[in-house]
Amino acid sequence: MVMVAPSGRHGRNRDVVTLRGRHQRVPIGHEGSCGNQHDTARCPIAVILAQAEVCVISADSNEQRQARPSRRVRPVVIFVGAKEVSVVSFMTVYCYRNGKREGQSMNVREVGSTGQVVGAIGLGCMGMSWGYRESARDDDVSIRVIREAVERGVTLIDTADIYGDGHNESLVGRALSGIRDDVVISTKGGLVVDNLESRAMHRDASARHMRDALDASLKRLGVDGVDLYYLHRVDENVPLEETWAQLAEFVTSGRVRHLGLSEVSVSDAALVHAIHPVAAIQSEMSLWTRDALVPAPDEDTSVLDWTSANGAMFVPFAPLGRGFLSGSIGVATSFESSDFRASNPRFSDEARRANETIISVVRSVALRRNVTPAQIALAWTLAQSGNVIPIPGTKSSKHLVENIEAASVHLDDQDLRELNELPAAMGSRY
Ligand SMILES: NC(=O)c1ccc[n+]([C@@H]2O[C@H](COP(=O)([O-])OP(=O)(O)OC[C@H]3O[C@@H](n4cnc5c(N)ncnc54)[C@H](OP(=O)(O)O)[C@@H]3O)[C@@H](O)[C@H]2O)c1
Repeated sequence: MVMVAPSGRHGRNRDVVTLRGRHQRVPIGHEGSCGNQHDTARCPIAVILAQAEVCVISADSNEQRQARPSRRVRPVVIFVGAKEVSVVSFMTVYCYRNGKREGQSMNVREVGSTGQVVGAIGLGCMGMSWGYRESARDDDVSIRVIREAVERGVTLIDTADIYGDGHNESLVGRALSGIRDDVVISTKGGLVVDNLESRAMHRDASARHMRDALDASLKRLGVDGVDLYYLHRVDENVPLEETWAQLAEFVTSGRVRHLGLSEVSVSDAALVHAIHPVAAIQSEMSLWTRDALVPAPDEDTSVLDWTSANGAMFVPFAPLGRGFLSGSIGVATSFESSDFRASNPRFSDEARRANETIISVVRSVALRRNVTPAQIALAWTLAQSGNVIPIPGTKSSKHLVENIEAASVHLDDQDLRELNELPAAMGSRY
């Protein structure tokens, strides 16, 4: 699969080509020259694409219109030889063979303003090592799920050093062996596991710890560098500028491509952005956790709006409400004692009973759209802004496919209104 995304006036990264997930910069320079038919002899994209036999072009998609209704839609078609023709929208890739549509790839979105393009749905790998239904953990299955995700167009792979105290990074490293260049690897440092069983941990974002942590992460992942390195949590005992200066040095030395923050305030993000660009903020955001959408009491803007305004990607973690928003967890569900949700206030019996009102609305929207509640939950995150790339976590191939398909679910105004009016969830999220 070859992707050119996006072209013309519709996006910032018009000179990015993705070849089997390998991101390359090429001189496209055909702005304004694309019509419904394309002169392949003169188009540099067509030459590149002809070599790969599948052709992809860009314009705007439904989702883009949904996120920014004022955008003009200008579909573009390219013919490459007689064999394959593809029409691509800004985020959706439609593949045609002999003029007949054969399939649709994962939509794509840009990692902030870095020029890197990733599938609009990423993969959170945490649950493959700890957190949920640990008795169902199976490394071989997890490795297959990660590889299947990449095959299906998922390129943002999320892990962290603490997940399973290193286990998850090793697992991801094994899964990505041979396909490392097809993905954007994101990992995190700045937390230390004290007890693996109870998942007790403390913060350490000292420069010395961050250096050791990155060395260990790269070793476990089996790579020379990662694409995105997050500070997992701000450490109140270490000035944030000090931590960030160390992270910026990782970029200078070539071991990290871009930096991110997790669960931060707008003022902390702005503080470090002035030192080195913040490419991504990863915070919990879902239908039942909307903090990132509203300004904190002492801030002028929300975290999500700050990322959009500052060329950063926003990565919602736990976009499925740790499984609850899929509708598969009810009052009768029991969690094994090691499961994070067994002691989480939002999953207490009382909270689950109260939060049924949330899932019943999600179910009714899903029914109307003929999709699943999990797909509605993911589509809602994508609809919040064009820079949102959720990372649902799963150890199951079936759920993986379902989650990926959410990238092409369109929510209309009525759907969004009903979802936006959902009551606040009962129970704190930690
Ligand atoms: N930065 C941070 O502090 C932070 C914190 C937490 C998580 N994260 C990252 O965010 C990722 C996602 O969050 P998360 O895994 O905690 O929560 P999540 O994505 O909201 O939910 C994961 C749960 O939902 C289930 N699930 C997934 N797809 C489903 C589907 N289509 N239908 C029904 N159930 C489904 C999974 O079970 P199955 O395995 O059975 O599918 C799992 O139990 C993590 O993997 C991790 O990489 C980051």
